[in-house]
Amino acid sequence: MAREIMESVHATSHVQRSFDPVTVRADFPALHQDVHGKPLVYLDTAASSQKPNAVIDAMTDFYRNDYSNVHRGVHLLSQRATDLYEGARSAVRRFINARNDREIVFTRGTTEAINLVSRSYGRDHIKEGDEIIISAMEHHANIVPWQMIRDMTGANLRIIPMNDDGELLIDEYKKLFNDRTKMVAVVHVSNALGTINPVKEMIEIAHSWDVPVLVDGAQSTPHMSIDVQDLDCDFFAFSAHKMYGPTGIGVLYGKEELLEILPPYQGGGDMILSVTFEKTLYNEIPNKFEAGTPNIAGAVGLKAAIDYLSQFDLDEIARYESELLQSATERVKEFTGLTVVGNAAQKASVLSFLLCAVHPHDIGTIFDQKGVAIRAGHHCAQPVMQRFSIPATARASFAMYNTTDDVDRLIDAIEYVLEVFS
Ligand code: ALA
Repeated sequence: MAREIMESVHATSHVQRSFDPVTVRADFPALHQDVHGKPLVYLDTAASSQKPNAVIDAMTDFYRNDYSNVHRGVHLLSQRATDLYEGARSAVRRFINARNDREIVFTRGTTEAINLVSRSYGRDHIKEGDEIIISAMEHHANIVPWQMIRDMTGANLRIIPMNDDGELLIDEYKKLFNDRTKMVAVVHVSNALGTINPVKEMIEIAHSWDVPVLVDGAQSTPHMSIDVQDLDCDFFAFSAHKMYGPTGIGVLYGKEELLEILPPYQGGGDMILSVTFEKTLYNEIPNKFEAGTPNIAGAVGLKAAIDYLSQFDLDEIARYESELLQSATERVKEFTGLTVVGNAAQKASVLSFLLCAVHPHDIGTIFDQKGVAIRAGHHCAQPVMQRFSIPATARASFAMYNTTDDVDRLIDAIEYVLEVFS
């Protein structure tokens, strides 16, 4: 415990670099290139972020110098790799303020983390007639796994509705609970609308019914500081690749007492204590959930991303990104024929819009010709599109490395689209 307190003090005293988006940009090599003859403006971080040199170098160094498998070898390289892998787990624990390392499970990403909970929790705790609450603004990754468990068990999904601004209706949410409610799974920040949901309040409501809550933190973790103890969530899932880390690795945080009672999600090496043909004894948490050789280099990269972010005051980054989003929103709204989809009072990073009758895919393609990278489509959130009776949106998403110059280029690109279609 003393070690954890010291590490936490160390983590909070970590801030050593004042935040300046222009110098931050210099750390991200991919941002410094031309696309179709124009300097790249990267406004697609909600899909995946670019990577700083610190992450790229840490992973390269690991492969060059320390690479081996973990938890298995008595040789030096395996010990080094194990130390780096477990060191990454501790870094994650400090980053989200979990109580201990046993609460941190490495997964392939947010999607696998949610699948793990739905399968493992669903197997023993969800029965025919039970209810699972999700919201109208979930990513498919927080819908489909629950539909699968619904179809396996005969349970039902209940959906928290939202208003026309893209805000969840908390009074309606309260009405969804009853004795059959077994789980709430809700997104922290909507990838399609940018809405920041009041998850702390929602967790309190669920807990008053003794119902556990899973928070999909894929879009919140890159843009705000996360404290799982303060939120009091039971599960929290996120991906490294949206927070300046590598693809293929993510995290499931789970309260220790819950992870202890969940059955393993996959079987294989590393998740066992002993195996005979008659019986297998499972390993302790978190290893019980990490079958097979894990993404060791991914964990190294994730730790480097956490170290990179931890140089800064995350609240300062959040304020900066929020101002950038607000100014971009005000400026795009000046265009006649432009509609912002998602006007919640509390938003982060995401600016989804429609422009006259131009299909979002055409907007994205024309933007690309101007060097501006955005995402167009349903953003893996088709029910959100159905709620607004639209097929798709164009989505610009902002990160710590975007600047007001990027917003200027976004505005130029919109003007260009209007010119092409005039
Ligand atoms: N979920 C990712 C997005 O919103 C891929 O773009």
